[in-house]
Amino acid sequence: MAEDWSARQYLKFEDERTRPPRDLLAQVPLQSPRRIFDLGCGPGNSTELLIERYPQAEVVGLDSSLDMLRQARERLPDCSFVAGDLATWLPPERADLLFGNAVFQWVPEHPAVLRRLLEALPQGGVLAVQMPDNTGEPALALMRQVGQSGPWAAKVAQAAAARDDLPTTGDYYDLLRPLASHIDIWHTVYNHVMAGPEAIVEWFRGSALRPFLSPLDDDMRRGFLADYTARIAAAYPRRFDGKVLLRFPRLFILAIR
Ligand SMILES: C[S@@+](CC[C@H](N)C(=O)[O-])C[C@H]1O[C@@H](n2cnc3c(N)ncnc32)[C@H](O)[C@@H]1O
Repeated sequence: MAEDWSARQYLKFEDERTRPPRDLLAQVPLQSPRRIFDLGCGPGNSTELLIERYPQAEVVGLDSSLDMLRQARERLPDCSFVAGDLATWLPPERADLLFGNAVFQWVPEHPAVLRRLLEALPQGGVLAVQMPDNTGEPALALMRQVGQSGPWAAKVAQAAAARDDLPTTGDYYDLLRPLASHIDIWHTVYNHVMAGPEAIVEWFRGSALRPFLSPLDDDMRRGFLADYTARIAAAYPRRFDGKVLLRFPRLFILAIR
């Protein structure tokens, strides 16, 4: 990836961001996996869940961001973390669980990558994946609108095109079911309670806004964020207590080889 991730920014909403991997892990049926990979481990929040649930297993975190890996190593010094790109990575033999929370939406041609990973698992191995399914939500649509409408349009054109809508659940089923003894696909829509519209902007500064902001200089970045914040405030009205609800649909896939 061209622009690096900021672990600090990402962790500002750690509780909310860690809820989906908890929900995904709760569905993993393995009793005592020996070797687990946390793909796109980020700052180690999802890795920590895996270690808590499976203290006997060898857990390896993999990420392409050096900042994220540094943070993850600080947080979990006894765990191993490796740099790698999921576009080309293949699991070594005897991987029992490949866990990918909030990462594959960033990997080009990710359906083919998921198929390749499932294919590489031994019989009974589990591929467990969660991705935001929110490209149609106002927060993402407004990002693209602001991107197209300001003096920054040419600089962020690539970012605006970077996150495609996810394929349909049927597409994932057709792709993965032939390789799976069991498959479970579901959606959960979270409604995160946020302090106000600015908090929604902060949330996405740790994820989907990064590709829009990183090509801009400070002035343009300020202009982009002011425009985006005003539109977010209009789209996410305050509730009776001043808070706003960030609606957040997510897709979960659990496939057993
Ligand atoms: C949204 S964070 C997810 C962190 C953590 N798994 C969690 O559950 O909160 C996405 C992570 O995926 C990593 N990532 C993005 N593209 C990647 C790729 N092609 N290969 C490996 N890691 C990648 C990013 O560096 C980032 O740390």
